[in-house]
Amino acid sequence: MLDNPKFQDNLLYENIELKRQLDEANSIIKAIRSNELNSLVFEKVASPLIVCDQIGKVVKKNLTASMLFRKDLNDGIFDTIIPLYNKVTGERFLVQEAIKKEPVCNQEVVFDGDVHLIVNASYLQGEQTNSGFFLISIVDITENYRYREEIRRLDRLNLVGEMAAGIGHEVRNPMTTVRGYLQIFQGKDQFSEYKESISIMIEELDRANSIITEFLSLAKTKELTKQEINFNEIINKIIPLVEVDALRQGLEIRLELQDVPNILGDEKEIRQCILNLVKNGLEAMLKGGAVTVKTYSNDSWVILEIKDQGCGIPVEVQNSMGKPFLTTKEQGTGLGLSVCFSIAKRHGAVLDFKTDQRGTSFYLKCPTIA
Ligand SMILES: Nc1ncnc2c1ncn2[C@@H]1O[C@H](COP(=O)(O)OP(=O)(O)OP(=O)(O)O)[C@@H](O)[C@H]1O
Ligand SMILES: [Mg+2]
Repeated sequence: MLDNPKFQDNLLYENIELKRQLDEANSIIKAIRSNELNSLVFEKVASPLIVCDQIGKVVKKNLTASMLFRKDLNDGIFDTIIPLYNKVTGERFLVQEAIKKEPVCNQEVVFDGDVHLIVNASYLQGEQTNSGFFLISIVDITENYRYREEIRRLDRLNLVGEMAAGIGHEVRNPMTTVRGYLQIFQGKDQFSEYKESISIMIEELDRANSIITEFLSLAKTKELTKQEINFNEIINKIIPLVEVDALRQGLEIRLELQDVPNILGDEKEIRQCILNLVKNGLEAMLKGGAVTVKTYSNDSWVILEIKDQGCGIPVEVQNSMGKPFLTTKEQGTGLGLSVCFSIAKRHGAVLDFKTDQRGTSFYLKCPTIA
């Protein structure tokens, strides 16, 4: 029977069929395995990944993406539910618009005011389907960004410190002499017609002097004589000083002070820091706005929060935060925040901020006494 050609044909046919079925089974297993693997990799990869269909609707996202954006992404249009802003220009960044022109490559964007991200996006054409998808992959660089900014700021402070220490005193001495003569002239009859001009000159010299005082305070490198002080006591003392002016301009200062432990610090410097931050908050708001000063604490930090309802800090200022002489105000010197960062540094404290169009919050976090 084995020699029967028909039987041999049948055997060959069965063999081929068997092989075909085996190949098919193998390829199905492979496909299942690779799909499983793809899903597993998609789910477990550390970077947030999001797949959108052609109209930009989220059709798939992994766990890290959901955790990053802390909202339900399912079926939402990505560009609508996740507002991203170009880090340099501050303009809205729309992934779907951008990808129409070319793949999005390492685009730095900001989400929710202070979450710094790098976005990559590319167009995918599925093999079995006619419609395309786009894959958005994201890297959260918020921590790195903060470190980078902190290092830049400290570098700037050191440079400023050296410059200030070098020229501050030298400029002040001749100014004192000029001011002295002006005061003498002010009292003399022969200069009576210049009285007004002389008093303006003296005022301007005083203004210049106070700029130098602030600038010099950036340069303080000597150890502070720290004492036990309490945020609430300082706030209760100094807020009435600025409140009168605030009320006159139709602005309000609210206090939300919790019982907080003492910190080790220099009262004069902390007072200066609070005043600068409250002043900035008041200056950022329109009539009817309120600055809220809060204190609270946890195991590691005593926190002072100064929150305003202003228009937010412009992006170009945020990028160079704490840089001396950076100001957007006609009458500003641009030294207030530099001084605050310098004071925070000398206290081993952290000065942080959050800002968007609805307002700005500054947080001065001082370590609790061990
Ligand atoms: N709370 C805030 N809201 C909005 N913008 C702010 C706020 N605080 C600071 N800024 C921005 O930061 C810039 C720098 O602030 P900084 O306090 O250093 O200087 P200034 O207020 O301009 O001048 P001054 O030396 O009188 O304080 C401001 O000009 C403003 O553009
Ligand atoms: Mg200021």
